[in-house]
Amino acid sequence: MIRNIVILTGAGVSAESGIDTFRDAGGQGGQGLWEQHRVEDVATPEAFARDPDLVLRFYDMRRAAIQTKQPNAAHAALARLDAAWPGRLLIVTQNVDDLHERAGARRVLHMHGEHLLAWCTACDVRSPWTGPLLDRPPCPACGTRALRPDVVWFGEVPYRMDAIHAALRDADLFVSIGTSGAVYPAAGFVRLARDLGARTLELNLEASQGSRWFHESRLGPATELVPAWVDRLLAQD
Ligand code: APR
Repeated sequence: MIRNIVILTGAGVSAESGIDTFRDAGGQGGQGLWEQHRVEDVATPEAFARDPDLVLRFYDMRRAAIQTKQPNAAHAALARLDAAWPGRLLIVTQNVDDLHERAGARRVLHMHGEHLLAWCTACDVRSPWTGPLLDRPPCPACGTRALRPDVVWFGEVPYRMDAIHAALRDADLFVSIGTSGAVYPAAGFVRLARDLGARTLELNLEASQGSRWFHESRLGPATELVPAWVDRLLAQD
């Protein structure tokens, strides 16, 4: 019987809301272009040290863009499952948008941080943030002009790995939605969950790099696959 569920989501769950995925953006098919920038040029601590204005401008643009987007049927279905599921459930998202929360989901863990938080590297406080960071505004907590996007860059450690591992240890079902399986440690969760006894299911537009590790893969758009999966799961309970 399924009691405890861990759901891993990636950029594919927000694609139909109009937010570019990472590895498909740029229209060149898998070159890792993201809004005309190579991911490594904007999403690493080295890039921030080398050209902070480029990185801040890039994230300011993304932060502004996500606020014009709306959750889609996949986010809504996951929120419905979260509200109705009596067992443990954790939505571990690699996404830095807030569309899971805006759809109403509560049990959400942002392992790669959040666009709508600014992190002060002077006092370590995270503050809600919707505007730009390029003009170096002062930290609301300490006044120092040392805010950066609260986004985990390549080479940095994802957030709350202990909580994620604890949830994976307890999981009866692990479901991966809209992620390419290219970026670790998230790409390794399926093997961990499977080794620990969970059933594993992938919902993705196309076979991902880790597809072979799943007991089952269903291919198609998230706005179709996720509501159908949630409906069946809730009907079985
Ligand atoms: N429905 C379902 N899946 C989709 C859809 C859709 N409508 N559109 C795209 N996909 C799938 C793609 O086929 C791809 O496998 O979503 C996946 C998106 O992959 P990536 O762009 O690599 O995004 P993600 O896996 O979330 O990236 C992981 O990499 O750049 C870093 O930190 C960043 O969190 C990000 C991490």
